[in-house]
Amino acid sequence: YVARKDSPMVLGLGEGENFIASDIPAVLPYTRKVFILEDGDVGILTTEGITITSLDGKTIDHKVFEVTGDAEAAEKGGYEHFMSKEIHEQPKALRDTLQPMLEQKDGLWSMRDDILQMDPGQVKAFDRVAIVACGTAYHAGVVGKYVFERVLRVPVEVDIASEYRYRDPVTPPGTLFIIISQSGETADTLAAMREAKKRGGKVLAITNVVGSSVAREADYLIYTWAGLEIAVASTKAYTSQLMVLYALCTEFARQRGVMSPQEASGMFEKLLGLSEQAQEAITNVDEIQRFASEHFDRHSVFFLGRGLDYALAMEASLKLKEISYIHSEAYAAGELKHGTIALIEEGTLVVAMATQQALVEKTISNVKEVKVRGAYVLAIAMEGDERVAQEADEVWYIPKTDDFIAPVLAVLPMQLFAYYMALMRGCDIDKPRNLAKSVTVE
Ligand code: G6P
Repeated sequence: YVARKDSPMVLGLGEGENFIASDIPAVLPYTRKVFILEDGDVGILTTEGITITSLDGKTIDHKVFEVTGDAEAAEKGGYEHFMSKEIHEQPKALRDTLQPMLEQKDGLWSMRDDILQMDPGQVKAFDRVAIVACGTAYHAGVVGKYVFERVLRVPVEVDIASEYRYRDPVTPPGTLFIIISQSGETADTLAAMREAKKRGGKVLAITNVVGSSVAREADYLIYTWAGLEIAVASTKAYTSQLMVLYALCTEFARQRGVMSPQEASGMFEKLLGLSEQAQEAITNVDEIQRFASEHFDRHSVFFLGRGLDYALAMEASLKLKEISYIHSEAYAAGELKHGTIALIEEGTLVVAMATQQALVEKTISNVKEVKVRGAYVLAIAMEGDERVAQEADEVWYIPKTDDFIAPVLAVLPMQLFAYYMALMRGCDIDKPRNLAKSVTVE
C-alpha cells in the first residue's frame, strides 16, 4: 500500500512485477509504463496489478503514462561510468534540445510559438525575472541572470529554492518566474514554485523529465531533451538548461525589439553551432587526464572568475567536490582579497576561469596575486587569447565563441577535470557518498 502526500510518487507497471519509486527514471530499467500519483491517491500493488483509489477508498481510473525515448540511456554503452557517457553525450543533448525549439521563416531563425507558449503580450509585459532552483540547476540560473540582464536589461533575481521559499520574497506584478530542475521533483524547488504561484506569478519551467511534478504544475513548460541522466552529478542536463536559457533570452530579445530579427537569427545560428564546438572541446582528454594524475591528491582547490566566469566557477567547484570529495570553493575573483587569499599558500591549486574577453585583464591581476603567494594556476581561456598564458602555469583552451555563450563550452573541461580527479582517487563516481540524484524530501 502506498499513498502520496506532497512528495512525488510513481508506480511502475511491469509484467508479473510492479514498482514504487519517487521519480520516473528510477523505474525505467524495468518498465516504461507508469502511473503518476496525485496528492491523496492511494495505490495498492500486488505482483499481478495496481489499483489506485482515493483516501476514502473509491477506485480512480488513472491513465497509464507511457515513457518514450531512448532505451539505451539506461546502459553505460561501453563507458566506465554513466557520468563519462553523459559528458560525451552533450553535443547530442545540446542539439536535441535546441533544434525542436526553432523554426526558420524567410531565412531567419526564431523560436516556435508552440514551444514558447507565451503570447507576444506576455513576452513584452514582464519587467522582472526571478529564477529559482537547487544545486547545478541553480548554477544554470546564475548564468541566466548574467545573460538576461545583459541582453534584456531587466532585473533578474536568482535564488536557491530552499532560501526562496522561506524568505518572504517581494514579488511585484510583472515578475516572470523561471524554475529549473533536471528531475522536476526536487522538494524545495517544487515548494518554491508553488509559493510563486500562490503569489499570483506565472511560472515557466525548464525540466528534463517528461511528466514530472514541475512539468505538470508549470504555466509554461520547456523541456531539455538531454535524455535520461543517471549519474548523480549533473552534466548534460546543465548544458541543456543553459541552452534553453540562451534560446529563451534570444527569443525574448527578438520579440521585445532588443535584438533585430537578423541579430536574433544570428545568435540562434551560433547556438546551433555549439553542438559541434562542444564535440571539439571534449575530444582530446589526454591533457586533462595527465593533469588529474599529477594533482589528484590535493586537499583543496580554489576556482576564480568574474562575471559569467564566476557563474561557471561555481559549477566547476560543485562538480569537483561532489564526486572527488576534494574541498573546493568558487570565488568571484575580485572578492579574493577580502578574505580567501589568506588561504593561498605554496602549492595551492587555483583554477582561473578567463573566458570573458572584457574581464581577462582583471582576472590576470588576480592570477598574479595568487601566484606571488605560491599558488599553482590552471587557467581556462578562449582559443586565440594568449594573455593569461603569460601568468598561469597551464592553460586549457576552449573553442572560440562569443563571451556570452562561452560557459556552455568552458564547463566541459571542468566536468572532465572533476571526473578524472575522482577516477584517480578511486571514488564511486556515479553514486557519490551522501548524495541523491533527485532530492524529494526537504
Ligand atoms: C541533487 C543532485 C544535483 C542537482 C540538484 C537539483 O542535489 O545531486 O545534481 O543539481 O539535486 O536537482 P534538480 O533535479 O532539481 O535539477
